[in-house]
Amino acid sequence: MKLTFALPTALLALGVAAFDKNQPWGKRDYACVNAFQGIPDNSTVAPGTQINVKFNRADTGRCDAYLNQYPGDPYSLWLYNNPVRNLDVISFDQSIKITDGIAEADGCVTFTIPDNLPVVADDSVWYLRLSTSLSTAPQMPTLFNAAGPFAIRG
Ligand SMILES: *[C@@H]1O[C@H](CO)[C@@H](O)[C@H](O)[C@H]1NC(C)=O
Repeated sequence: MKLTFALPTALLALGVAAFDKNQPWGKRDYACVNAFQGIPDNSTVAPGTQINVKFNRADTGRCDAYLNQYPGDPYSLWLYNNPVRNLDVISFDQSIKITDGIAEADGCVTFTIPDNLPVVADDSVWYLRLSTSLSTAPQMPTLFNAAGPFAIRG
């Protein structure tokens, strides 16, 4: 009997597509948060570096304007290492909560890149996700900005 390994090869090819950070990370998740200062794509930051992220709800070109009428709940900020999309599900090697409770009206958050991050297989695929939810909007969507990829190394 002849065996064929064509299918695993095809699955492997799908898996290497670059992660599109602006696609939804979950259900009803939209890249509507406009972060205009933070960690540049493809940059390298050292643990211990202080980062100032500035953001607003200005048009990102990726967002339906009808959402503008709903205020954002307090924002949270997370680091993700090596997010991978498989259909609608995102998996990742590490996720680290940096902070939460950031008021939308503040429009900024300052934090320090942790110096006790877990060891990862690839330190060049970190993403920073700033997100809120619209708890007064129908179906309570979440809005986010994802920065990255960037490297964290000391
Ligand atoms: C980051 O690197 C990717 C892949 O090389 C490239 O497509 C993208 O334009 C770069 N972004 C910036 C801001 O340099």
